[in-house]
Amino acid sequence: MKCLKQLFMLFILLWSLVLPSTALAATDSSQASTSSSITNNTTTTDNSLQRIKHKGTLVVGMSADYPPYEFTTKKNGQTRYVGFEVSLARQFAKDLGVKLVIKNMDFDSLLVALETRKIDTIISGMNVTPKREKSVDFSHTYYSGNSYFLINKSDRNRYQSAKDFKGKTVGAQNGTLQSTMINKDMPGTTNKGLAKLSSLVISLQSHKVAGVLMDAATAKAYAANNSNLMAFNSKLPNTAGGIAMAFHKGDHSLEAAANQTIKRVQQKDLINKRWIPQASHYMRSYKKQNTILSYWRYFATGIEYTLIITVVSVVCGFILGTLFALMRLSKNKLLHSLAVCYIEFLRGTPMMVQIMFVYFGIGAIIQSLPALLAGIIAVSLNSGAYVAEIIRSGIQSIPLGQTEAARSLGMSKRLAFHYVIMPQALKNIWPALGNELITLLKDSSLVSTIGVGELMYQTQLVQSATYKGVLPLFITMLIYFVMTFTLSRILLYFERRMKHAY
Ligand code: ARG
Repeated sequence: MKCLKQLFMLFILLWSLVLPSTALAATDSSQASTSSSITNNTTTTDNSLQRIKHKGTLVVGMSADYPPYEFTTKKNGQTRYVGFEVSLARQFAKDLGVKLVIKNMDFDSLLVALETRKIDTIISGMNVTPKREKSVDFSHTYYSGNSYFLINKSDRNRYQSAKDFKGKTVGAQNGTLQSTMINKDMPGTTNKGLAKLSSLVISLQSHKVAGVLMDAATAKAYAANNSNLMAFNSKLPNTAGGIAMAFHKGDHSLEAAANQTIKRVQQKDLINKRWIPQASHYMRSYKKQNTILSYWRYFATGIEYTLIITVVSVVCGFILGTLFALMRLSKNKLLHSLAVCYIEFLRGTPMMVQIMFVYFGIGAIIQSLPALLAGIIAVSLNSGAYVAEIIRSGIQSIPLGQTEAARSLGMSKRLAFHYVIMPQALKNIWPALGNELITLLKDSSLVSTIGVGELMYQTQLVQSATYKGVLPLFITMLIYFVMTFTLSRILLYFERRMKHAY
């Protein structure tokens, strides 16, 4: 019965959380036509070009795993974005007189990022398709080409045309035209979709997929730089338009500026004459210096971010946890139900979803919310829920007699809690808290999904840069283990000391 009542309260509370925001949304749209601050998002007045110039930066979203379009190289241990579309982006920013900021993300996150204005434009080898045109505006096209298969050279007699892949698995990057093509034009072939093209190339090399379908230039680039791979024309029907930049719907003035840049670039044939040869040069020189050890800096940065996220989230999580534990134990019904809602909701939804929700959801309101901060907020909130339960169980594990004894000695409620209950509770829950801390350190790896440069994110960068799937993962596993093991030793040391103290 009590349980039912709590569930009902939870429902009412959640509902009341939703209601004001829907009401707000309704008033927002009714004000949109009058308020100038909201006109940004409407198509009526377009100040997109002005906005970029005022901001001083052009944020370009791309999936930098697509040579010669966009990919990464290293210079003095730092990642550098190169490729003909990076040159195009640079030219565009220069023409606008602003600084170029590149946001590297998975191809299938680009459209959402543009929609939520995390980026100003997509320059990522994106073909114009009718479906995409429904959600974004495209510039003029500046490149074109059909789709090629990339296969292992050792398979060259087995696979020579699209139909040879019947009954086999072919990979394509998620959200791409090629992924749709496999589903539509290659019946009997299983489509293996992954977020990163480089992960697919790794899958190909370890024969997890028979081939990978991608744009011609990219397939040729991979084949040219890897003697075990080769590329051939898929000859699949091509229904899409050429490659273009994508803009937020209604950003006409920015799009017009892009078209001017494109026009000039095409007049001088810069893409074919200068930028693609440059990109090939980067690919060749890169191949030579590409050993795993040369990536130690990536791992170091990763460790640094992982520790930052963990430490800050632990402190915030502990504060939140204590607060919610006390609220849950409180006699005040409202506080109690609030805490129950919070704890149950955060424990009952996946952390990965929470991270994305904070990043894209809150990020839609506060547009400049950095990914690192969003990650820390999400991890802290999540950890707070678990810590709250640990602390609650700790407090409840102390017999009532302890409080009574302390009170009969003349201590106030607060003093008794502070000096009698809490220290004993802390001792009891120490192992559970330690567990939570170690879990948190490992779970911080989920933050890589929103592009925070922690250890897992860096590992993926190293994987795609070296085309080695297993070794970087193994190194990362060792690093995590060393970190958690050290941590558990430290925790044990304190646990022992507490045993002596009481
Ligand atoms: N041209 C293809 C498409 O529009 C694939 C582009 C993939 N781009 C990338 N940077 N990974 O769907």
